[in-house]
Amino acid sequence: MAGIVVVGTQWGDEGKGKYIDILSGDSDYIVRYSGGNNAGRTIISEGIKYSLHLLPSGILRKDKICILANGVVINPAVFLQEMDYLNNFNIDMAQIFISDRAHVVMPWHIYLDNLQEQARGKAELGTTKRGNGPAYADKANRSGIRMGDLVDPEYFKELVHENIELQNDLIVKIYGGNPLDADKIIEEYSEYAKRLKPYVRDVNFMIHEALEDRKIVLFEGSQATLLDMDFGTYPYVTSSNPIAGGVCTGAGVGPKMITEVLGVVKAYVTRLGAGPFVTEQDNEIGRMLREYGNEYGSTTGRARRCGWLDLVMLKYSARINGLTGLCMNHIDTIGKLDKIKLCVAYKLNGETIDYYPSSNKELNMCEPVYEEFEGWKDTDISRVKRFSALPLAAQKYISRIEELIRVPVKYVGVGPDREQTITL
Ligand code: IMP
Repeated sequence: MAGIVVVGTQWGDEGKGKYIDILSGDSDYIVRYSGGNNAGRTIISEGIKYSLHLLPSGILRKDKICILANGVVINPAVFLQEMDYLNNFNIDMAQIFISDRAHVVMPWHIYLDNLQEQARGKAELGTTKRGNGPAYADKANRSGIRMGDLVDPEYFKELVHENIELQNDLIVKIYGGNPLDADKIIEEYSEYAKRLKPYVRDVNFMIHEALEDRKIVLFEGSQATLLDMDFGTYPYVTSSNPIAGGVCTGAGVGPKMITEVLGVVKAYVTRLGAGPFVTEQDNEIGRMLREYGNEYGSTTGRARRCGWLDLVMLKYSARINGLTGLCMNHIDTIGKLDKIKLCVAYKLNGETIDYYPSSNKELNMCEPVYEEFEGWKDTDISRVKRFSALPLAAQKYISRIEELIRVPVKYVGVGPDREQTITL
């Protein structure tokens, strides 16, 4: 039995897709357990760049089983669009199934996500406006609609009629929007339901059978630890639990079933949307990182905020997730700078601290304490296959991170392609 989790250790966009893609080669099942189509995943395979938001990255591997588990929220239109998009490449895809317990992103969720952000004005959270927050809020409010309900036409109709009055009250009376039409929604979603029905089932049963049969199940994280609803920089977070513990509730497996937790980390840090960011470089360094690393959101196209790697944050992430290994990306990108800084502690009110404060107010007051490293811009490392073949400056940078975090680095990314990865 093996349950391997791949999680983001920062604010997302660490390049989880690549490791899911690599690890899925040896896995039998690939399971997404949180988030929805707010997740941007770019996978470059055999020179072709695939851009997905909802389907698991493992979908590109035939002979695998991919699952969107109960913790994921599903926009049915996006699911079908992505299936059609991949069909256009004529690739032999994995089989895919959706949990009947997963909640559906309804049109009112998307509309409300937009209206709520507008209403927040300057205090906006910078959500992806895909309706995820309101869909999870309805799940907690016990008024959500699940995939099992969507594919039951009569019950679905009933649930839309039950929901629409309150949703329209919110839309019109609170946010000043235009009411939605229940019949139109039923008509549109019923068409999706017909196509989706074969994919919807009790996937929890499948996951347990797989684990009992000693299959390898790969749990694919979305978003990341510092966007986690409980452990992230609340309220600048997503509305689910992307951390490794989210696998237990988001896919219905016990903690003992998880045998490995790999944390994906960028050699620097990026953040989309608002919220504290201690090592942010809103200057020429940040601009260079953005250009060299092509740091633009794959869901919204927004420019990502960039800064130095923050080991206070990474240590926190390592603990929350119980990391057993690190996958370090963009070693090629960071090496293009003359000098590299690594944040090893914070100064808060004149004191040096090595824990990650829960208060945004305190985080905004923290000053990073840096160690400085030489870059390796004169060496092209994009084809390097062994750690020992990396420039000494790069080895030193990676080893220092490993030493301070006390989690072994298992993979080093030297370029975006699946092949551009050093396995340690
Ligand atoms: P939501 O998940 O759309 O509600 O957005 C909440 C916060 O999470 C915002 O700051 C988003 O920019 C951020 N976020 C959501 N998904 C991703 C992602 O896949 N990568 C990076 N940031 C994300």
